[in-house]
Amino acid sequence: MSNLVITIDGPAASGKSTVARLLAERLGASFLDTGAMYRAVTLAAIEAGVDMSDEEKLLGVLETGEFQFVVKEGKMAVRIGGVDVTEWIRRPEVTAKARHIASSAKLREKLVRMQRQFAAGEEKIVTEGRDQGTVAFADADVKFYLTADAGERARRRLAELRARGGGEPRPSDGLGESFEQIQKAIEERDKSDEDRAVGPLRPADDAIVIDTTDLGIEEVVEKVLRCVKEKCLKRKSKMRWFRFARWCCRVFCNLFFRIQVYGRENVPDEGAFVLVGNHQSYLDPVFCGIPLERPLYFLARDSLWKNRFFGRLISSVNTIPVKQGKADLSAMRKVIGKLKEGRGVCVFPEGTRSIDGRISPFKPGFGLLCRRGEAAVVPVLIDGAFECWPRHKKIFSRGRIDVCYGKAIPAGEVANMSDRQLAELLTDTLRRMQTKSRIKHGKEPYDY
Ligand code: C5P
Repeated sequence: MSNLVITIDGPAASGKSTVARLLAERLGASFLDTGAMYRAVTLAAIEAGVDMSDEEKLLGVLETGEFQFVVKEGKMAVRIGGVDVTEWIRRPEVTAKARHIASSAKLREKLVRMQRQFAAGEEKIVTEGRDQGTVAFADADVKFYLTADAGERARRRLAELRARGGGEPRPSDGLGESFEQIQKAIEERDKSDEDRAVGPLRPADDAIVIDTTDLGIEEVVEKVLRCVKEKCLKRKSKMRWFRFARWCCRVFCNLFFRIQVYGRENVPDEGAFVLVGNHQSYLDPVFCGIPLERPLYFLARDSLWKNRFFGRLISSVNTIPVKQGKADLSAMRKVIGKLKEGRGVCVFPEGTRSIDGRISPFKPGFGLLCRRGEAAVVPVLIDGAFECWPRHKKIFSRGRIDVCYGKAIPAGEVANMSDRQLAELLTDTLRRMQTKSRIKHGKEPYDY
């Protein structure tokens, strides 16, 4: 799993490839040029004589082609079937036809998956393209959006062509002869990138936008590096704070409760997982989270943020606010993003604390998060929290709490279940775990 993901998006010739490469070099990070992936599939399709408007055939090209993307001497080398095509994918015909690949939802989905797989194997990565901060790595640590006015970008492209071709660009370069034609071609690519329905070119809401029109490459790299360092410092102190907060919670729980933990080994050491628990008290997120070394993300109703101090406090320990009474797509996207990064999320699908200690049937909505986040699902039973802090009491009392992590359901199995099936299976599993736990502690089991 990557420890640092930096995304750089932006239009053609905005300088993002060069900046991304130099930044990766300075940070000792890997570098992913996602445009090269779109170009490689385009080249393979052209070579295979595939009709560029036939999406299924293009998909076939992507699935059967042996594409290899490797970083070589700071540059991304591309091989198809073992042949180095790094230079070929820059051919004007490829540039012009890449939009067919870029506008297909199915192809984009597959390419984004490949990009995430690539990143998952790297400790630090700088990835550049059009949708890296908005789609592929919506939860990246630092996001940039580089832009420049079209005239300046055309000037840069012209200089690049002259340097490469050793003279004036020819019509066969595909970009036209004149500066005006180059600018027009760039503007057309911008429009096609911005207007497509899937993964359109736009800055992520939390991206740092840098206009490079009047800046040299070195100045941009320096600026970007400064932002990354600031963000990393903030991240480090956030991590330290999280560990401290968890330590405080552990001390607090040891003072007031006797917590017994079972099945900790059922929680995966790595990869995405959703911890699905029964909800008995306000302290359940703490009970589920403190036995684990891996940090968890939580969801909570947004009204808890009305008190600004409390809101900041729970945000600082990975709690994501969810609007009540409606489908909060932005919160869902955040959670799916965390899962796609391979993190753990804890949910309580009863929706509210139990009124009598019983487990009510789970609301099926969480199934979508698990499937879209390609996460394993781990049931977690909390027993004893209702006795310590039932919802009708203002303050908790001391007592024994059992936290039992059940067997994980692998992501592959979750993918084949409907939301309802998953919700029923987990309700049933947790009720059985609860019955067993209550009998073990000499408590009357609930009648379901
Ligand atoms: O960046 P580059 O010019 O190499 O990208 C080639 C094409 O691939 C672009 O015109 C763009 O439409 C597409 N692309 C994309 N999403 C990305 C990267 C590139 O749609 N993440």
